[in-house]
Amino acid sequence: MTVTEALKKRISIRQFLPDPLAERQVRDILEAARWSPSGGNLQAWRVIAVAGEARDAVVRLASESAATYAPDSSDDRPVYPPNLWEPYRTRRYKLGEDMYALLGIPRSDRQGRLAQWARNYQFFGAPVGLFFVIEERMGHAQWAHLGMLIQSIALAATERGVGSCMQESWSALRAPLKVHFNLAADEMIYCGMALGIADPAAAVNSLRSERAEVAEFAQLRGFR
Ligand SMILES: Cc1cc2nc3c(=O)[nH]c(=O)nc-3n(C[C@H](O)[C@H](O)[C@H](O)COP(=O)(O)O)c2cc1C
Repeated sequence: MTVTEALKKRISIRQFLPDPLAERQVRDILEAARWSPSGGNLQAWRVIAVAGEARDAVVRLASESAATYAPDSSDDRPVYPPNLWEPYRTRRYKLGEDMYALLGIPRSDRQGRLAQWARNYQFFGAPVGLFFVIEERMGHAQWAHLGMLIQSIALAATERGVGSCMQESWSALRAPLKVHFNLAADEMIYCGMALGIADPAAAVNSLRSERAEVAEFAQLRGFR
């Protein structure tokens, strides 16, 4: 698989088979992704991978937490800026509508939509969850660098036939997760990731979200 093929094949998987991943598979993915670049080569990240009982404990923690099902619950680092503006607002809206249409959950079924959102906190059935940890005193540059690691993990997983879904939803549980994982005082969870084998029969996994054309986001200047 070429890098371009992996880039195009990777999509967010929101229904996984229960098949476990071996520790060596997860290590192998991390082994590839550790070559991600970071400014100054700081590699200012830590990854916590949970499977089996450790995974179930996090899922339990989520179900017991009052904050769990508030998609936009935020701390001082909210997932989206308040009052999202165009074109972002429409893109976000469309993604949600396309996904719920595939799942057959209409806008009027608020409970159904909340229940689907809550599936985030079960890793959408994935056998493995990853959590990305960064030191609180790190700035926006290091957060961008962490994103490189996260995408690398997703691409390395794709290459190995392993599906993934990045999950900022876990940011709603930063405080209890910090205690749960016994993070250092200056550490925080950025986001999570579900990892496992995609359920090929699940309609939600056929969601191919749209992208802006190159001409919409890039200017190519000075070329002859
Ligand atoms: C950092 C990050 C966090 C995300 N968090 C969530 C999440 O909590 N739940 C979810 O269902 N999708 C989440 N997504 C998936 C995005 O909705 C998805 O990447 C986007 O719509 C593009 O679709 P694709 O990944 O299928 O190409 C996240 C994506 C990124 C990059």
